[in-house]
Amino acid sequence: MNSDGQIVAASKPFHFLGKKEDIIQAERVVKSVCERDVLVLYHQGDFYAIDARCYHAGGPLHKGDIEEFDGRSCIVCPWHKYKMTLAEGEGLYQAVDPSVKPLKPTWCSKGVKQRVHNVTESNGDLFLTLNDSPGAIDSDHYQTEKYRDTFMKE
Ligand code: FES
Repeated sequence: MNSDGQIVAASKPFHFLGKKEDIIQAERVVKSVCERDVLVLYHQGDFYAIDARCYHAGGPLHKGDIEEFDGRSCIVCPWHKYKMTLAEGEGLYQAVDPSVKPLKPTWCSKGVKQRVHNVTESNGDLFLTLNDSPGAIDSDHYQTEKYRDTFMKE
């Protein structure tokens, strides 16, 4: 572990998030990790970590509901109701093929729009590994100084 509370293994650091039981009890917390605001969630027995501001216009995902769509757990942004899968950060929407009668909406994916990160447990502690995959993901736009602390203290 280095002086910043990081466990460094291989090339990717693990950032200490807190005690597993505390985060289970809280169900959701926002952590600032390397100047990135990440929403950590406990939902139905699993931990998730996702960029805290919505890719659409920077909405506060820590205030969003979690709902199931097409069998997938999603967070619903409180501002304009965009839906993102917790596990992959895919933006989901419903579409109708007008050539198929009767009309029936189906769920479709916009692809990965919200950057998700990895949560691991060790001896009752939780750690975050940031997803530093190359290539921009839409939610990266709201992880800059301009947007930091705009609503996290609400
Ligand atoms: Fe999230 Fe618009 S800011 S849906």
